[in-house]
Amino acid sequence: MQNREQWGSKLGFILAASGSAVGLGNIWKYPHMAGENGGGAFTIVYLICILVVGLPIVIAEFVIGRKTQLSPVGAFETVAPKSNWKWVGMLGVASAFVILSFYGVVGGWTLKYTLISLTGGFSQLAGDPETSGTLFDSFIKGALAPILWQIVFMGFTIFVIVQGVKGGIEKWTKIMMPAILVILVVLMIRGLTLPNGTQALDFLFKPKFEDLTASSIVLALGHSFFTLSLGMGTMITYGSYLRKDQNLLSSALWIIFLDTLIAMMAGVAIFATVFAMGADPGAGPGLIFVVLPTIFPKIVGGAIWGTLFFFLLFMAALTSAISILEVITAYFIDEKGWGREKATIIFGSVVTVVGAFCSLSMGAFNITSFMDISFFDVLDYLSSKYMLPIGGMLTALFVLYRWGVPNFITEMVLGMDDHNINPAVVRILFMVSAAVVGFILLNEIIATITGTPIIG
Ligand code: PHE
Repeated sequence: MQNREQWGSKLGFILAASGSAVGLGNIWKYPHMAGENGGGAFTIVYLICILVVGLPIVIAEFVIGRKTQLSPVGAFETVAPKSNWKWVGMLGVASAFVILSFYGVVGGWTLKYTLISLTGGFSQLAGDPETSGTLFDSFIKGALAPILWQIVFMGFTIFVIVQGVKGGIEKWTKIMMPAILVILVVLMIRGLTLPNGTQALDFLFKPKFEDLTASSIVLALGHSFFTLSLGMGTMITYGSYLRKDQNLLSSALWIIFLDTLIAMMAGVAIFATVFAMGADPGAGPGLIFVVLPTIFPKIVGGAIWGTLFFFLLFMAALTSAISILEVITAYFIDEKGWGREKATIIFGSVVTVVGAFCSLSMGAFNITSFMDISFFDVLDYLSSKYMLPIGGMLTALFVLYRWGVPNFITEMVLGMDDHNINPAVVRILFMVSAAVVGFILLNEIIATITGTPIIG
């Protein structure tokens, strides 16, 4: 344990953890989910979940990781030896496999679209969503091309993780995170200065509650876990590479702030462009890959904007994908005594193979066709609607009823100048957080069984 790798600096940790948080969830999922679920109303539920549920759980994960200096399975086992709590860690490792499988597929799409834009391929799509839709559809439903791009994307992910915590994750996120922020600011200003661009603000922030259903509330909750990389031990793993002098409260606040800021900026940049060109905001998952390519060629310098946008999306996806693979790699290093290189290459490859089936399920060969839903969607729904919220809720319950709030606070205040933490407040925060997740899950289950939710 003395040889455990460590982050090189406090800022490096914050950038790595916010790199994990900021990803496809912010730039691809949030805008299309908000677009389909009432814009402002979805945004409000999502923001409430981030604050009420997300904040305590981000801190809990950091504290558990730093205390034990181990990835999730070992971490739960250390605090609660010979108990069933290690299964929460196992659930996390399983979620990592599930999420990275489909995440890598979309990561591959971002690379392909960067290249299309760079080579001027969007120009024939100007104002023609139909052709753009056909192009996207035939690409993702193809057997070979999307898998090749997925392999390239996973190759980058493996490449970073093999280099370790400081020399890999930290080094690369320190370059990519500032680049993402700069490109996003430029794109947002570009969007807002287009005619009608400011309609995006109304759409995203003015609530239309009638569009909110039980299902969209669960979606907003699940999304708040997904976007903060919570409920599967990513933040436990990243926290395990910390020294005791990091202020975990301020780090968590920074990460939540950056993640939310970037989601909102991406939403504004994308919807401003969509409204300026009179496109459909409710276009679903294709919003970015179908609608945006028809809009870029109509803007002066469109090929450059398009390339910047998809490259930004690629970098955001990569800084998240590495954090997911690190959960798997760290499990095999900590629990099985494997070397980093071996663990990363073997399990990076396993995930790539499962991911290839996800990609095939888009059209070429769907192994879940009997369920009327693609394997890709099964993995996405399963992880973000159930696995992450359940993992997060159990983490909160773990602090409350197994580890104990006083022990938790003793570890949490290390690295903080101001030690004035009231245990009663901490207890209430964790209880509310666990109760909200429990209630929303129950509400969804009741809605699925009876057809009438309690709320929504
Ligand atoms: N937070 C990432 C995103 O928003 C996805 C992610 C989920 C990363 C879970 C790690 C763990 O895209």
